[in-house]
Amino acid sequence: MTACRICQTPLEPFMTFGKMPIANGFLSKEEFAGEYFFELAPALCAKCKMVQIIEQPDPDRMFHDHYPFFTSSSHYMTLHFKKFAEQILQDNLSQSADPFVVELGCNDGVLLQNFANRGIRHLGIEPSANVAAAANKKGVRTVTDFFNEGLAKKIVAEDGQADAIMAANVMCHIPDLASVAQGVGRLLKNDGVFIFEDPYLGDIVEKTSYDQIYDEHVFLFCGLSVSNAFSPYGLQLIDVIPQVTHGGSMRYVLAPTGSRQAKPSVELLLERERQQGLDRPETFKKFRENCEKSRRDLLAVLNDLRQKGKRVVGYGATSKSTTVINYCGITPEHIEFISDTTPDKQGKFTPGGHIPVKPYADFKNTYPDYALLFAWNHQVEIMEKEGEFSASGGKWINFVPKVEISK
Ligand code: TYD
Repeated sequence: MTACRICQTPLEPFMTFGKMPIANGFLSKEEFAGEYFFELAPALCAKCKMVQIIEQPDPDRMFHDHYPFFTSSSHYMTLHFKKFAEQILQDNLSQSADPFVVELGCNDGVLLQNFANRGIRHLGIEPSANVAAAANKKGVRTVTDFFNEGLAKKIVAEDGQADAIMAANVMCHIPDLASVAQGVGRLLKNDGVFIFEDPYLGDIVEKTSYDQIYDEHVFLFCGLSVSNAFSPYGLQLIDVIPQVTHGGSMRYVLAPTGSRQAKPSVELLLERERQQGLDRPETFKKFRENCEKSRRDLLAVLNDLRQKGKRVVGYGATSKSTTVINYCGITPEHIEFISDTTPDKQGKFTPGGHIPVKPYADFKNTYPDYALLFAWNHQVEIMEKEGEFSASGGKWINFVPKVEISK
């Protein structure tokens, strides 16, 4: 039996999504035969309350030199990271004469560029060489590596300790949280802060947004589990700030234990999570039932449209869509293609379901009857720019928080 990655308690999955490919493993026809699959099954640790997937593929299968994910492809995300940087500058760096900030998993430098532009000492750590190259090109100092205590020591020797360590949509990717926590402990100044944000379990449960569960997201965090996971390493949760990004995220602020007083927001969140039942198996049994209903409802809509001969196209070949497509059994018979603005995904096929991914122009030039909104986390941004599709009679299929068709 698998043990909890945080506290070694034996784990039982509360459901399985079945065999899944690598969520960002967009592939060519020639690669279909050798495609890798693993069992995607999440579990709640009875002791430390960490929700995690039982099996996770080897990191080298997920993060490599052709990783097709570029954060800057979303205008709203770029704005979000600008505000994030400004908040840190104001709250955490204003007292420091020569601050030094580090970002774990800096992707294409979308957050750190806000520090680089101001001449602030910074360092990005990014395991995927292609996105790290994009960051360096922007003038964001980046090393291609995985973060751990060894790397932390090296950084301290070369640059000194950090005033702030940040991570966005990265911590939930890292199975060995202990090694990161130890590295953070070494790299962070005594009065420094460690700030990270990730999709929030409370939102996932409330909205049945099960598509947040895929290979890269080894953990689905909440305040209870984050607090339990980091306190053994001398890091205390001192603030929590909800975010609208990724369909509902949480920003966690941690500091060396005893260095600062926790804000009331922390206890308020932990209490709300206990009320929501994020620490209880019954909640996840209900979540499983909700996922099954979502799958039935979405397939019913797609089968109906297929029978009626309607053209359905997917919008946004997100990592999340891999879970939806494979769990629901969506095929190219249901969806003609998925439109996506990321050049690295275009001309390829989606993992497992093998639905073609095409450039945005293919959507724009010949509108389909229906667009299935896989990139639902960017709904506001997408609706703003797709007025013409709706005006032409096009309809949207949504599946979060429930399956429905809208104009
Ligand atoms: P993202 O939101 O990062 O989701 P995930 O973490 O699940 O991969 O990915 C959004 C994807 O949608 C990305 O491939 C770019 C694409 N996209 C579009 O094609 N058009 C758009 O207008 C937006 C906002 C995103």
